[in-house]
Amino acid sequence: MLKNKFVVLGVTGSIAAYKSADLVRLLKKRGARVQVIMTKSACKFVKPLTFQVLSQNPVITDMFREPYRWEVEHVALADSADIILVAPATANIIAKIAAGIADDILTATILATRAKVVIAPAMNVHMYENPITQKNIEYLKGLGIKVLEPEEGPLACGYTGRGRFPAAEDIINILEELVGKAQDLKGRTFLITAGPTREPIDPIRYISNHSSGKMGYSLAHKAIIRGARVILVSGPTNITPPAGLYKFVPVETAIQMEKAVLENFNQADVVIKAAAVADYRPKKFNPEKIKKKDDEMIVELVKNPDILQELGKKKQNQVLVGFAAETDKPEKNALEKLKRKNLDFIVLNDVTQEGAGFGSDTNIVKIIYKDGRSEALPRMLKEDVADDILDRVLPFLTENG
Ligand SMILES: Cc1cc2nc3c(=O)[nH]c(=O)nc-3n(C[C@H](O)[C@H](O)[C@H](O)COP(=O)(O)O)c2cc1C
Repeated sequence: MLKNKFVVLGVTGSIAAYKSADLVRLLKKRGARVQVIMTKSACKFVKPLTFQVLSQNPVITDMFREPYRWEVEHVALADSADIILVAPATANIIAKIAAGIADDILTATILATRAKVVIAPAMNVHMYENPITQKNIEYLKGLGIKVLEPEEGPLACGYTGRGRFPAAEDIINILEELVGKAQDLKGRTFLITAGPTREPIDPIRYISNHSSGKMGYSLAHKAIIRGARVILVSGPTNITPPAGLYKFVPVETAIQMEKAVLENFNQADVVIKAAAVADYRPKKFNPEKIKKKDDEMIVELVKNPDILQELGKKKQNQVLVGFAAETDKPEKNALEKLKRKNLDFIVLNDVTQEGAGFGSDTNIVKIIYKDGRSEALPRMLKEDVADDILDRVLPFLTENG
């Protein structure tokens, strides 16, 4: 799976730096292209020549060296990397990444990249357990950076505890898993809904909600990357639909969304309803703009169709996933919704938490299953929450054949 993938390996100033030589050997053996960047401290532990020979590539240690190709090196590396792996990662580099510091070629490349970043910490147990390091690690995880758990055992500093560099084979397996997600949804059709609906009162005004569509669009984007055929039915948003969609169906109202979803339901293997469909719509649409007259104006509302519940009744082999944005007794309400609508699982947004729900780039969700089991995910970018949700769809697909 790593064949022809471009891995940028950052080696930092840990006593475990020599172990990365084995990582390079294994990466090359698996067919990856490897570019090693070493921090100044790392060069005190191991000579760049070791990595140069193993990676068959000159090692980069200096942001300001004369370029041998005409390009801004850290940006070029950031753009072309499939994965950036920092292994071993010192407490110092973790803190620098968390603070957005870019004072050497490794930190600048990490700040400039949109590739997946994986970090393998290795340090003294007290450095690792220090609340500052732990806070930095939690923060990075929240940004979607994969931080590996160091192993427990005797450390080079003489202490015993958590802080040991994981085995090179284990790190490679994790990289393969990340890259391997690339096509695990191939041959499956996903019907994803996103955004709010708009329920018109007159030609000028409407009732809607704060949904930005980011979660649904992230799901569509990630499902495409993982090989799925994706139909995206979307209410009005400011987001450009992801490239590679099989079908994009823009809609405005809940009734239009219902029609689009039902029309496409039969061809779907998976339906993820991330849209925030308005529960009610104005009973009457005024074809003319309603004039401002009285102090009070009453808009009579009627209930919109419950699209998810309809799908739950029609469901045969499809995997059905819903979202719940709750402010009151979130888990209890979400579980009730899941059962009432015959879902396979429900993604609960506690919209009262900072960094969760509408408009935000990040989300904090809990996944709740039929049997009441729940899994809380940390605060993560919506793109990474999307990947985690797709990971949880996979076992249901295998079950359904
Ligand atoms: C012998 C020795 C071993 C070290 N081992 C580690 C280590 O395993 N982990 C760590 O976080 N720092 C370790 N350090 C401290 C780092 O080298 C130091 O914080 C340095 O500034 C890191 O720079 P870098 O993150 O740019 O590579 C060690 C220092 C020495 C002298």
